[in-house]
Amino acid sequence: MEKLVSIRGAITAKNTKDGIAAAAVNLVDRLYFKNGLTDGDVVNIVISVTPSLTAASAAQAVRESGHAVPLMSCAEPEVKDMVKGVIRVMITAYSDKPPRHIYLNGARALRKDIAGSYAVALDGPSGAGKSTVAKLVAAKLGITYLDTGALYRALGLKCLREGVEATDAVGAENCLRDAKVTIEYENGVQKVLLDGEDVSGSIRTPEVSMAASAVSAHPYVRGKLLDIQRDIAKKSSVILDGRDIGTVVLPDAEFKFFLTASAEIRAKRRFDELTAKGQSVTYEDVYNDVVTRDRNDSTRAVAPLKQAFDAIAVNSDDMSAEDVANDIIKYILGDINEI
Ligand code: DC
Repeated sequence: MEKLVSIRGAITAKNTKDGIAAAAVNLVDRLYFKNGLTDGDVVNIVISVTPSLTAASAAQAVRESGHAVPLMSCAEPEVKDMVKGVIRVMITAYSDKPPRHIYLNGARALRKDIAGSYAVALDGPSGAGKSTVAKLVAAKLGITYLDTGALYRALGLKCLREGVEATDAVGAENCLRDAKVTIEYENGVQKVLLDGEDVSGSIRTPEVSMAASAVSAHPYVRGKLLDIQRDIAKKSSVILDGRDIGTVVLPDAEFKFFLTASAEIRAKRRFDELTAKGQSVTYEDVYNDVVTRDRNDSTRAVAPLKQAFDAIAVNSDDMSAEDVANDIIKYILGDINEI
């Protein structure tokens, strides 16, 4: 049922006309997006700015960006030790969901209680560069990285080792019922343990990739791995890469990205990676694996690979992993509004 909610947000801005306008519009647009609002739901928007932001009116910029709702701007008094250059927004709106607040940039420090930790969901097909990007983002933002594919790979490995057909739902469930998968971090590097054994090195072969894709289609397997992923996300700010993070594992993630690239480019990247590790593979085999896994991952009945409605799509065909990571970081920090 719809009721009146009060949605809060804040962002820091430079004291220039463009700096204030971009930050205010960015924040209001994100609050609308995150809370599923349109102007028709909104009763009013109140914006306040700290005393140093004198170059432009934040409310005027929001109005000029196209929001036809009652808007009010006010100046905050100078307060000892205040965070400087802050734009605060309060949106009163009708909504059937609890309010989702957003604190960006230096303004995160203002409300550690609601802005303290955040989750980043990075989904996409195999070979799109998710793990490289996620590692860079995690290192630069100082947050935890979880490669969720490693969990499915560990279970795929167990089936292979026990000679169980990974596509057989009943056989796989029997084989995996007592399997214990755990994640540990050593100097910030993720290790995946299967029944206490560190299998991080054994799960990166093409055979394990296919077995992981096959086991990941079984509802039993997805259920078994759900809590492990959510538990890690509860502890601190995180970035999880996978297929269903934004849709199933963390549907409330503060930031969601869907990273894609053409099958040819993804196969080429995977081929280079495998040959660099000394594995003997052909480009054709790797390409066929990529296409088969795409099909398996996107057509399975449970939690298929799918872009969440509120995820930002990024095509990495012409971008390096560093470029993608830098854009994602800037977006998370509120320095840019689109990628
Ligand atoms: O990301 P990866 O290639 O390491 O993943 C291996 C397989 O595991 C992939 O083909 C699909 C599956 N997977 C999944 O279904 N859901 C996830 N969140 C991560 C991986």
